[in-house]
Amino acid sequence: MSTVSHRAIAVDVDGVSKRFTHRVKGEVYAARDVRFKAAPGGFVTLLGPSGCGKTTTLRMIAGFEQPDEGRIRFGGDDVTDLPVNQRNIGFVFQNYALFPHLSVYENVAYGLQVRGQSTQGVATRVGEVLALVGLAGYEQQFPAQLSGGEQQRVALARAIVIEPRVLLFDEPLSNLDAKLRVQMRDDIRELQRRLAITTIYVTHDQEEAMAVSDHIVVMNQGSIVQEGSAEDLYHRPASEFVATFVGRVNLIGGTVTGRSGERASVSALGGTFQARVGAVALDVGGRTRLVLRPEAIAISRRSDGLPARVTMRTFLGEKVEYRLRCADVELQAIRHSSGADDTISVGDQVSLHFADEALVALPETNR
Ligand SMILES: Nc1ncnc2c1ncn2[C@@H]1O[C@H](COP(=O)(O)OP(=O)(O)OP(=O)(O)O)[C@@H](O)[C@H]1O
Ligand SMILES: [Mg+2]
Repeated sequence: MSTVSHRAIAVDVDGVSKRFTHRVKGEVYAARDVRFKAAPGGFVTLLGPSGCGKTTTLRMIAGFEQPDEGRIRFGGDDVTDLPVNQRNIGFVFQNYALFPHLSVYENVAYGLQVRGQSTQGVATRVGEVLALVGLAGYEQQFPAQLSGGEQQRVALARAIVIEPRVLLFDEPLSNLDAKLRVQMRDDIRELQRRLAITTIYVTHDQEEAMAVSDHIVVMNQGSIVQEGSAEDLYHRPASEFVATFVGRVNLIGGTVTGRSGERASVSALGGTFQARVGAVALDVGGRTRLVLRPEAIAISRRSDGLPARVTMRTFLGEKVEYRLRCADVELQAIRHSSGADDTISVGDQVSLHFADEALVALPETNR
């Protein structure tokens, strides 16, 4: 079977907005001027907290919801006014949404049968797709006889069997336990690479987003706040919101004492640092919050770094987490175990080291 069935297309979400009338708040924007592109065969994730407009945006791309403003294009074709069944999409929902009274075979075959394919053609294609998602031999089972992970594989098979131009996922893993989530997300990523179908995926789980996506679009309160690769968002957050939403972080208060291009001098933690500038609005003399990731902090027993005291130590096997008190600021640090016993313990006076490069200076109010 050829896995790449047709030419992958770009998806262009061009300034879409959707308003709903809320009983208490009146008219609210569930999505506001949302614009991003998915490259042909790309994997884009919409990431953000509950209620930020991810599902609304995905439903507009699918055609379940009509935007109040903006256009949606698939490979250059404007599909904004096309109904769902003419957009050729595959949609995988959080709750699987399988037909309970149909067998696995019938659930997957359904989309092909309504398209009028021959019985033999359907049988061949369903067999191929069930093998692809690891469910060969499950044809005669019913959804109630399957685990959550298996049901989600059936839902995935049903979405890809019609060879969609665009694959859409709305929190597909949130009903699965932690271990299965990791396995399923790797399987989805691998399958998406093989099929090269342009994919838009929705989750509120930043780790899941980083694991599956080429490109992440972060949303908050209906709007896009930043987009980029996982590395961009993690190392170059443009706001406190993104810094705290994507990964663990120390936010350290300080004062901007100078600025030159992409660097700012910041006095904080009793020292002065040359931080990277994370947002344009960073004024000399103003307050700043420095972003410092826990794994960027090295802890030593030497006395040539920032003095700190260990207030908590949590051994977690492959890593050790520390809480530290440094110039009246509480910091978290992560040290990956080297195999050797580490002898730093609660109450110890230690030295902290980190590169200025690891610091991103953001305006204090920029959330
Ligand atoms: N049909 C509707 N009528 C009224 N308000 C709606 C409707 N659908 C969504 N909303 C509102 O729009 C906002 C965005 O909702 P949406 O479902 O897109 O969020 P989400 O990011 O998918 O959240 P979650 O992570 O909880 O699924 C919310 O405030 C929600 O209450
Ligand atoms: Mg949602």
